[in-house]
Amino acid sequence: MQDRTPPPESLDPIERASVDELRALQLERLQWSVRHAYDNVPHYRASFDAAGVHPSGIRELSDLAALPFTTKADLRANYPFGMFAVPQAEVSRVHASSGTTGRPTVVGYTAQDIRTWATVMARSIRASGGRPSDKVHVAYGYGLFTGGLGAHYGAEALGCTVIPVSGGMTERQVTLIRDFEPDVIMVTPSYMLAIVDEMERQGLDPRSTSLAVGIFGAEPWTNEMRTEMEQRLDMHAVDIYGLSEVMGPGVANECVETKDGLHIWEDHFYPEIIDPLTGGVVADGDEGELVFTSLTKQAMPIIRYRTRDLTRLLPGTARPMRRMEKITGRSDDMIILRGVNLFPTQIEELILRTPALSPHFQCVLSRPGRMDEMAVRVERRPDAAAAEARAGGDQLGTLIKNTIGVTVTVEVLEPDGVERSMGKMRRIVDERDR
Ligand code: DLL
Repeated sequence: MQDRTPPPESLDPIERASVDELRALQLERLQWSVRHAYDNVPHYRASFDAAGVHPSGIRELSDLAALPFTTKADLRANYPFGMFAVPQAEVSRVHASSGTTGRPTVVGYTAQDIRTWATVMARSIRASGGRPSDKVHVAYGYGLFTGGLGAHYGAEALGCTVIPVSGGMTERQVTLIRDFEPDVIMVTPSYMLAIVDEMERQGLDPRSTSLAVGIFGAEPWTNEMRTEMEQRLDMHAVDIYGLSEVMGPGVANECVETKDGLHIWEDHFYPEIIDPLTGGVVADGDEGELVFTSLTKQAMPIIRYRTRDLTRLLPGTARPMRRMEKITGRSDDMIILRGVNLFPTQIEELILRTPALSPHFQCVLSRPGRMDEMAVRVERRPDAAAAEARAGGDQLGTLIKNTIGVTVTVEVLEPDGVERSMGKMRRIVDERDR
């Protein structure tokens, strides 16, 4: 793999600032952001007043903990534009996240917000090992989803040549990679797997392509999956995180030189971890739910947004900004099976330890009697014989029993037996209500 560490002089000044300088900037920005939200968004004024708090009470960063949380339900209740803090004429773009139930959540950006977003995305691509003049293949979906356009503007801002492919038409993805020879690909990890399979189907050796860096996010994926991608593609596989409500992709990103969790771009997004049950802030290093407050957003400031994503905060390494550990999962995606909590990422880890099985999988929940049951549907690797794959399935069942502590059935399917996603993969199929 190529050395893709960015030269220190190419970083933004704040990426090299001291932690004290960063904290001072955050406090100043936090005071602005909270005041901006209170003065211009009726929802915040009402919720702060109801909680008996006021922007003038923010004297240090820890004072943030006194403010009420914002949830997806608040955004839905103010659908479509009620959370905006500027007149519509100043909103230069909207995005929306579909969600699985109910109304979509709508987010807005001023022209300055779009520039901020492009800056943090450019920073993310550079941290991942992307360089000005690289060709960047964007296979995140374009449209209301923030992935495609977010990646697009960031790659342009960094000075790259953007190839705006969007998701889908997998055969064509491979043709374009072969013909245009991109250096960087930005795509969900599950769709990258589908693209690699298609390369192999077309007789193209995935290790021989021009790709040097993959920037994967929008869904959880594990370090075991990183190893799988890096081995199959001979390129760096780096994690990117973000969510529409806070900005889109580019809230946090791993650094290619360390690959040890995602540095949060704390000059724009202030993180807290809370105990999801009590709402209390926990210490750095402890696990819990990630909460974000925007520090610079104009069109839609967001105060203490509960992401539902579970992780913990760690000190900075390659950058002074704090890291978040790779996300285990969303609290909504936690499966409780006969009293045992588990996440699809734990299943992914174990599948990738079973050589005959491919990482295309789904967890299917059913309730044939009184108790919930789970089946792991997983494909055999194309080069594994059927008997070997069956043995692999048994091995996986034992691994799950021994490490997670629940009994599940494992169904080993033929290659292509599990549905493919062009964006976020549906890991949990819930058939309990049927
Ligand atoms: O998925 C933004 C994005 C696009 C991020 C492209 C990265 C790359 P939403 O559709 O609003 O926005 O979904 C946000 O996706 O709360 C997480 O649950 C999940 N998610 C995003 N990135 C990661 C990641 C985009 N790297 C929701 N690891 C978030 C785990 C992720 N989960």
